Amino acid sequence: MGKLIIQLLGVLFFVQLVACNDEGNQVTVASNSDVLHQLPDAGEEVDSSAIVYLASGDIDVDGSITDYQWTQTKGTSVEILNADSANASFVMPVIFEGDLLGFQLVATDSEGSTNTYSTSITVEPVSVKIAFIGDSGVGDGAKKVLQLIAAEGTDMVLHQGDFGYNDYRIGVAVDLFFDQIAQALGEKMPYFGSIGNHDHESFAATDEWLMTGGYQEGFQTLLKNTAGAKCEGDLGVASACTYKGIFFVLSGIGTYPDGRDGQDDPTHVAYLQEKLAASSATWKICSWHKTMSTLQVGGKHDETGWAPFSTCRKAGAIVAVGHEHSYSRTHVLSNFETQTVVSTNSKNMKIKGGENGETFMFVSGLGGKSIRDQERTTNNEHWASIYTSTQGATYGALFCTFRSKGDPDRADCYFKNIAGQVIDEFTIFKEEG
Ligand SMILES: [Fe+2]
Repeated sequence: MGKLIIQLLGVLFFVQLVACNDEGNQVTVASNSDVLHQLPDAGEEVDSSAIVYLASGDIDVDGSITDYQWTQTKGTSVEILNADSANASFVMPVIFEGDLLGFQLVATDSEGSTNTYSTSITVEPVSVKIAFIGDSGVGDGAKKVLQLIAAEGTDMVLHQGDFGYNDYRIGVAVDLFFDQIAQALGEKMPYFGSIGNHDHESFAATDEWLMTGGYQEGFQTLLKNTAGAKCEGDLGVASACTYKGIFFVLSGIGTYPDGRDGQDDPTHVAYLQEKLAASSATWKICSWHKTMSTLQVGGKHDETGWAPFSTCRKAGAIVAVGHEHSYSRTHVLSNFETQTVVSTNSKNMKIKGGENGETFMFVSGLGGKSIRDQERTTNNEHWASIYTSTQGATYGALFCTFRSKGDPDRADCYFKNIAGQVIDEFTIFKEEG
């Protein structure tokens, strides 16, 4: 103990809140210290771009401190500014999964004695609430679903295709579709879509997906308006995106540029494999429109092939589809083709990647266009939840909050209809695999 450093009254943190950066995320900070010091209250919210000050506080000395040296001891690497002075600082990095940032101050007095103090900041995981819908169309049902999405405090929408349908003159449904989003959710809602079969067919051989002012252009505009979102590839067709650290592929497999009646599309499958393997995100989502007959409960036939499902399973990804206008969710499966159920615990879903990966899929097709009945009445052991007109269904959305309750590996989900009823509720735990 350096004799000149008689008492350390405080190693202080304080933060300067600045305007939200382009990433648009916030971290919640709790300060901890292994020495007796006054620190800010836990729960303070700090933007990822905020400057955090590291202050030595009042060090009561007989002589003088000749040297200060701040270093980082734990966590996501940050650059400490003025590391050799009493008051240092760093810029809070973008951290979605949560972390513990540790710092150490070595103070040297005029007699060459040193003392070391340490402290840390807990960065809590950033939760992200995603609404999953498909088959919305434009009109009263879709508007009510979008109003529900707004009321639920949603951070982002993933739409599994069939947006406006082609019930209007060319392009009119496209405008109505994006208008109803803007009215319910504003111009800057993070909103991503995968192409559906009704989004490119049209009366006059005009591709409403690709045309000027078409669906893809509309989604490109929404993407540009979403700070911190990154997508590569052919948006909505063969694209890989990240938003707030959640990775998702938006695929047109089985739909576009062509359907294959249940045969695997090797180009799409190769893209899925490559992009899913390249992502290190904890949470991965595969989003597309169509499905296989046994992976829906209405009258749809085989349209995607099995390879996209097994590819996502091995990546530990959740598979979200639409196309059938009802809601259904499988148990965790170890094989989609054989619908092999890992566990019938429908409330706690443990998923993992790897060659023996285990995950689940759901159809969320009650976005507002119409509601269909349950036609699949046998061999339904793989379903954890079924909600169709046979069960009296009305429109709604599946909501999942990823990184919920401070746990980066936990997601809490529920399907809620526009009457406010929760139809299905479950928790997902992402495990190593
Ligand atoms: Fe549809």
